[in-house]
Amino acid sequence: MTTAEPGEPSAERLLVRDLAQLVTHRGSAAPLRGSELREVELVENAFVLAEGGMIVATGRMADLGALPGDVLELDGRGLSAIPGLVDCHAHACFAGDRVGEFALRASGASYEELHAAGGGILSTVAATRAAGPRGLCDQVLKHRGWMQRAGTTTFEAKSGYGLDRETELASLRAIAAAEGIPTWLGAHAVPPEFDDADAYLDFALAEVLPEAAGLAEAADVFVERGAFDVAQARRYLEACRDAGLALRIHGDQFTELGAVPLAIELGARSIDHLEATGAEGVAALAASGVVSVLLPASALFLGRRMPPARSLVDAGAAVALATDFNPGSAFCESLPLVCSLACTQLRMSPEEALGACTVNAAHVVDRAERVGRLAPGYQADLVLLDAPDWRHLAYHLGGDLVATVVRKGAPLRRH
Ligand code: NIG
Ligand code: FE
Repeated sequence: MTTAEPGEPSAERLLVRDLAQLVTHRGSAAPLRGSELREVELVENAFVLAEGGMIVATGRMADLGALPGDVLELDGRGLSAIPGLVDCHAHACFAGDRVGEFALRASGASYEELHAAGGGILSTVAATRAAGPRGLCDQVLKHRGWMQRAGTTTFEAKSGYGLDRETELASLRAIAAAEGIPTWLGAHAVPPEFDDADAYLDFALAEVLPEAAGLAEAADVFVERGAFDVAQARRYLEACRDAGLALRIHGDQFTELGAVPLAIELGARSIDHLEATGAEGVAALAASGVVSVLLPASALFLGRRMPPARSLVDAGAAVALATDFNPGSAFCESLPLVCSLACTQLRMSPEEALGACTVNAAHVVDRAERVGRLAPGYQADLVLLDAPDWRHLAYHLGGDLVATVVRKGAPLRRH
């Protein structure tokens, strides 16, 4: 038997041995709610055994039998293992940056003012259109590398910075080529060549949806003043649903406009943001099957109030956490940092934060049977943290605590 350095090519079989801790949530056919989100299975002195990219066994070292034949070994002494993290909301397909806008905001300009002045999302649209299909593939791969280094092994990514036929379709293809899960955010903003949102939607639904439906798994819309209203969102989402796409909504980010009842009525998979959601919305979400995806890095980055996470979890809503990685409102690819924000700003426990960006996030992208847990039959995606207690995941604020990332049984190279 040999001991591998992180980054070596995968072997048929992989044994991660002598882990200080291994932690995972229970699986279920539905997202975890209420106290379920706090219940973890914790194993000390643990191992994980994978074969052909899948987990075949986990448990205590004392129960590990002899393993004849070739096995690639990773030394887990002093480390803790968590499931590979699942980022269920990321805008990873964009070109250019908005660092100038960031600096203006730092000296007082608001996000909405910059958006209204033609900056914001539309400035990224110009850069993304100019990048071309090859350039977009490079961008998604670069962003995927950043996410993986922070422990993300499964990511959703949205189009929405093309807003023309060619660039939207190229975005969805670039995301799929990088093994991301593509969402068509065809209703992100109204591009400059259209006078109003309805005229743009006429175009998007007639000219882009037929092909986007074959490339994406879900559709998403930004319901907000200056973007799309509830009637426009309904029209867009109904057409997308009829074309076979699952539905998601950016709702209640700045204003409560009725996105929550719309998400529930249409049976959306998730509603994301919810910083402005009040008590009625919380109760409605708790009684529904729609997952509430919270994005605290975005609220922090924009200096906004945080979403009502505690009320949502306590009321029994299915809560997930994600980065919202994008160049304007959350230039943050790190789910460990999001977990820290969940514990320090959202009053969630480390267990709740972990469950929200593993099992529940996996439900949002319809992969809960395959990823998000360390258990036999799941993909061998795991993160080894350089800490003997897995709760350092949230405790180490902005720390570089990811020692090794394993995806499909292969240790990934750090670059
Ligand atoms: O989720 N809210 C709309 N879309 C993104 C921000 C996009 C941008 O500013 O470029 C979000 O926060
Ligand atoms: Fe977003």
